[in-house]
Amino acid sequence: MNNFEFKNPTKIIFGKDTIEKVNEEIPQDAKVLMLYGGGSIKKNGIYEQVKNALTGVEVVEFGGIPANPEYETLLKALQVIKDENITYLLAVGGGSVIDGTKFLSSAALYEGDTPWDILTEKIKTEKGMPFGTVLTLPATGSEMNSGAVITRKETKEKLGMGGPGLFPQFSILDPQVIVSIPQRQLANGLTDAFTHVLEQYMTYPVGGLLQDRFAESILQTLIEVAPKVVKDPSNYEAASNFMWSCTMALNGLIKQGVPGDWAIHMMGHELTALFGIDHARTLAVVTPSHYKYNFEAKKEKLAQYAERVWNVTEGNQEDKAYAAIEKTEAFFHQLGIDTKLSDYTSDYKGTAEEISKRFTDRGWNGIGERQALTPQDAEKIVKMTY
Ligand code: NZQ
Ligand code: ZN
Repeated sequence: MNNFEFKNPTKIIFGKDTIEKVNEEIPQDAKVLMLYGGGSIKKNGIYEQVKNALTGVEVVEFGGIPANPEYETLLKALQVIKDENITYLLAVGGGSVIDGTKFLSSAALYEGDTPWDILTEKIKTEKGMPFGTVLTLPATGSEMNSGAVITRKETKEKLGMGGPGLFPQFSILDPQVIVSIPQRQLANGLTDAFTHVLEQYMTYPVGGLLQDRFAESILQTLIEVAPKVVKDPSNYEAASNFMWSCTMALNGLIKQGVPGDWAIHMMGHELTALFGIDHARTLAVVTPSHYKYNFEAKKEKLAQYAERVWNVTEGNQEDKAYAAIEKTEAFFHQLGIDTKLSDYTSDYKGTAEEISKRFTDRGWNGIGERQALTPQDAEKIVKMTY
């Protein structure tokens, strides 16, 4: 096992009817900017619950943060923070609203002229404006981590940012929120969380026995609850296990002391930036090809995953490893998620070359768990997804 240091300061408030507790977490003298997305919270009652809980607190609102939070929109929110002397941010939404809020937390205290530099120059946020979240969509884990991904439509870019100053102070996780989530977003959430675990697990063995079993248990739980969540989102037991699995998949715990891959996300983010494909679906497109291309380097963990998660007992190590890729792809299909780029766009020609060029331009010359994948490798992997 590799050395590690681990601190996660986010307070989780989990369970039925917990949204009313938001009031206990926000300083009473704060001036709050409540941020939300395209309006789902106004239809499903979450908006009222939050507003009622905030009675007596000074609140300004900013709605309209789109999926794949957009820089131009966020700049408008930044202006509100400055004009209204906001001191505290409250995200009410899924990963997009929470990520947008993290960007604002950082940008509000940023001293440079152009906040986009936080992303392009990889500026780590040591201190941001304090913020909390009310999660409405289990998927990204953003509610308990310090990362964010921001999109700039103008330039078709989608870049990551983060730093120890960007953990939410608290996150409220009421699994009942999932009843109003459309099927497509439920499938996305399951797929995203599943892939988060894979990114931190499907590498090479380093004797992280507990981390491996944490990862496998999250995968097994997601597989077990997926059909139940999709069939009946009001099944509270399934909903609560789904929600907690998504948070645990990317709150920093399972990655400690083990290598991480993240190449699937790096290629996937480009597919969202270029074609607007939902984040989770880009991961389902890249994963099978990525594992086939890197079969030799990953076959030990692939075989372990086949045995322990999918109960594959037949064949040698390579057979099992190959079966693992097939099982994973079948799991995505079972959720109604297509796994070829051509299922999403007919305009895919040249995509692999474009992604390879972008990686080269950014100096991403070695990605994956061994920093061994070059832009040319990424090009070949993306071609395999057509
Ligand atoms: O905008 P509204 O109207 O609220 O509708 C949203 C949106 O259309 C809807 N929704 C959310 N909660 C709902 C609901 N509809 C009905 N009932 C509810 N309770 O769902 C749609 C998608 O929401 P979004 O927040 O975009 O989804 P998700 O949570 O999947 O977030 C995706 C974003 O997170 C980034 C992705 O790249 C993408 O931009 N990621 C963030 C990560 C992180 N910070 O750690 C890691 C991930 O790998 C990912 O990259
Ligand atoms: Zn993801």
